[in-house]
This record gives sequence, C-alpha cells and structure tokens, in this order.
Amino acid sequence: MEDWRPVCGRDELADGEFEIVELDDTLVAVYRVSDEFFAIEDLCTHDGGELAGGKLCGYQLECPRHASRFDLRSGKVLGPPALTDTQVFPVKIEGDQVYMRDHRWDD
Ligand code: FES
Repeated sequence: MEDWRPVCGRDELADGEFEIVELDDTLVAVYRVSDEFFAIEDLCTHDGGELAGGKLCGYQLECPRHASRFDLRSGKVLGPPALTDTQVFPVKIEGDQVYMRDHRWDD
C-alpha cells in the first residue's frame, strides 16, 4: 500500500533546513538540499543521538554528538564512530507539497 504523508510545502524549507515528522514511534528528519528533499531517521546508530540539526555539508549529515557522518540520500555511514547505516524513507514532490512514505511494512 502506498500511503504518502504530507510533510510541508516545498517553499516552507530553505536549503539546508529540515522538518521533523513522527511515524508511530520513529522520528524522521526531512531535509531540503538545494531543490531536493530527503527523509532520514532522526537516529544516530552510534549511540541513539538525534541527527537533525547536525552540520550539513552537501548530502552529508554529521551527528552533533560524536560526529558520525551519514549520507542523506542512502542512510549509509560515511564516517565513524557509527558503524551501521541509518534508515531513509521515500520522498516525493507533487505540486508545491512534499510527501514522505513509511515503506517499512511494504511486502
Ligand atoms: S550518537 Fe551520533 S556519533 Fe555518537
């Protein structure tokens, strides 16, 4: 089932800004990078810290606690101390609206 959830208007976020969305018990940070949008779980796999608000450099998001780095596009770890990737979610734009989808229960 494809159940897209509205996040915000496309122009509500400036380049580098984010919006937090709650999916059941999971917090997701939806980031704007230039004209693209990405949704990444707001959870650092090193020690459970929040990623949102960390330093953003291109598509690279740095955890504010101990500086692990993750790729916003894939959730892949780019730098330690985290060793495990974090989760990303599908995002789409329709008109002026940004949507994301919880794909965790897809089969
Ligand atoms: S909690 Fe993110 S690097 Fe430690």
